[in-house]
Amino acid sequence: MSATFISLEGVDGSGKSTQAVMLADALRARGHEVVHVREPGGTPLGEAIRDVALGPDAMSPWAEAFLFAAARAQLVADVIGPALAVGTWVVADRFIDSSLAYQGAARGLGIRNVASVNAPCIGDWMPDLTIILDMAPGAATDRRAGRGSVDRIEEEGETLQESVAEGYREVARCYPERVHLVSAAGTVDEVHARVMAAVIGNL
Ligand code: TYD
Repeated sequence: MSATFISLEGVDGSGKSTQAVMLADALRARGHEVVHVREPGGTPLGEAIRDVALGPDAMSPWAEAFLFAAARAQLVADVIGPALAVGTWVVADRFIDSSLAYQGAARGLGIRNVASVNAPCIGDWMPDLTIILDMAPGAATDRRAGRGSVDRIEEEGETLQESVAEGYREVARCYPERVHLVSAAGTVDEVHARVMAAVIGNL
């Protein structure tokens, strides 16, 4: 199988970062070279943009969308594109669908509009497969409550997170070939088993 690009998505507290690590490890155990990235960040410029995008200063929805897109453009140019070009698999903890759900749907910019802005940042390197960890409203709140620091977006609370969850479902409806919803309910191992089943069943 040629190099594959898989992204993991979900609301804050959905457990996607844990699942991204487990997925990358499972793919390595199957003999693949795997690069694991997270957004926003993953390059020096991307980390600087992360500090601004998630920092305390209020910003317009489009300013927010362009900051995440800029960090993504650099990550694609420096890490994701070169990895895929030499046959290394990529597991991304968030990618374009975060922008579609948070900025496109929840902030009201429009999924198609935000997709258009991101298209030139990504070029040919769209994920082959995207898994969204789907959570019942309220369930992620309990997980978020157990964490220490919250960033500017998490601080906005439940209403935004519920719009994001609905936004992700809309994204899945817009891109049914690429995007698959997986229930985030249950233990970490149960969710991992579902993620692996979705990966094996859809690649
Ligand atoms: P997150 O995955 O929560 O990072 P961490 O777990 O390390 O704090 O991502 C940070 C926040 O940025 C999260 O609230 C989602 C938001 N975000 C967007 O709104 N749009 C985007 O395009 C991306 C990549 C993230």
